[in-house]
Amino acid sequence: MRVLAMFSLMYDDVTIYYFSGTGNALTASRWITESAKKKGRQTNLISIDRIKKIAVPAAAGKRLLGFCYPTHGFGIPWIMLKFIFKFPGRERCDVFLMNTRAGSKIGKLFLPGVSGIAQLLPALILLGKGFRIRGLLPLDMPSNWISIHPGYNPAAVAALLARCCVRVDGFSERILSGRAYFRPNVLVMLPVDMALAPVAFMYFLYGRFFLAKVFIAATDCDTCRLCEQKCPTASIRIVDNRPFWKFTCESCMRCINVCPRRAIQVSHLLAVIIPVVSSFLPIALLLAIFNSYIPSSLMKPADFIIDWGISLTLFFVISGLVFWLIRIKWINQLFSATSLTKYWRRYMAPGIKPKDF
Ligand SMILES: Cc1cc2nc3c(=O)[nH]c(=O)nc-3n(C[C@H](O)[C@H](O)[C@H](O)COP(=O)(O)O)c2cc1C
Ligand code: SF4
Ligand code: SF4
Repeated sequence: MRVLAMFSLMYDDVTIYYFSGTGNALTASRWITESAKKKGRQTNLISIDRIKKIAVPAAAGKRLLGFCYPTHGFGIPWIMLKFIFKFPGRERCDVFLMNTRAGSKIGKLFLPGVSGIAQLLPALILLGKGFRIRGLLPLDMPSNWISIHPGYNPAAVAALLARCCVRVDGFSERILSGRAYFRPNVLVMLPVDMALAPVAFMYFLYGRFFLAKVFIAATDCDTCRLCEQKCPTASIRIVDNRPFWKFTCESCMRCINVCPRRAIQVSHLLAVIIPVVSSFLPIALLLAIFNSYIPSSLMKPADFIIDWGISLTLFFVISGLVFWLIRIKWINQLFSATSLTKYWRRYMAPGIKPKDF
């Protein structure tokens, strides 16, 4: 009993830094802070959206820090990774990481998402800064990746959330009492997660930029600017009375889901055009020209960087051209009608409203 009493005094203060595109990570962070409040702990829930300077609030006593974010491309969103990189080091301060993933429900079957290096990479950075990792929780919330599938129906969403809520309760109970929490299959999943590191790396280099460039605004847009105001990375600029997406976009899916007119679409036609046009361009010829100026020992990395630069330029040029062309009504209608998102259900975590961001 005395041991339990000692554990229950373990932390006086719980501070969670979160990034959340569509409210899953925010909902899960709230579950933890509510549990901590019920146990009489002081809590802080801090959004890292557009944060300029990291101010760590003064702790009332012994502090537990949490970082909560979605999984993107088998990794951690760039905005959160940058934040963790910049986070001031604290010797022996306790932290936990919680990454929300793409959980799904097919019939009665619950399928988990895949973390890849979404936990491993930030955990290593935090360890390097002197923190003690006390818990790692991957959480299979309803998938918000509506560029590739429709938003789930309300019954599936409710069932997935109910399971996650129970899991978070167990996690909070354990971690707030000072005990460590690591999922039992952590060692089984480790090789799978590590094998996905190259894919996560390619997502960082290509995927996230490509996804940023396939958003379009349909003619239904009335320039209310809500998407611009709510974007966590200030990646939307209003040009010619329509949103334009910059490369800094994290593809977090917030804008497409908050738009009151459902005017934002992921253009699947554009997603096909970009690689097709790229495959016709004489990239090999361009590389050969560049290669004649590069020493042979540096050829491979130089080719990789040049190829990357050419791809990004192509994403930019082709999507820029389409942005300009969709001012013409029938072209806009063509791109909208061939966007699967026009017909798909949207996703926002239940209870989360645009004002929460
Ligand atoms: C661009 C993008 C990439 C994603 N990549 C993954 C992934 O690699 N693994 C996974 O399990 N879920 C993935 N997801 C799903 C989200 O991580 C998941 O739905 C998360 O709960 C969303 O949280 P949020 O609402 O707080 O942003 C991805 C979602 C998006 C939009
Ligand atoms: S939120 Fe929708 S309607 Fe408003 S500016 Fe953005 S795209 Fe247009
Ligand atoms: S532009 Fe949209 S998808 Fe991209 S970061 Fe902003 S809100 Fe998220």
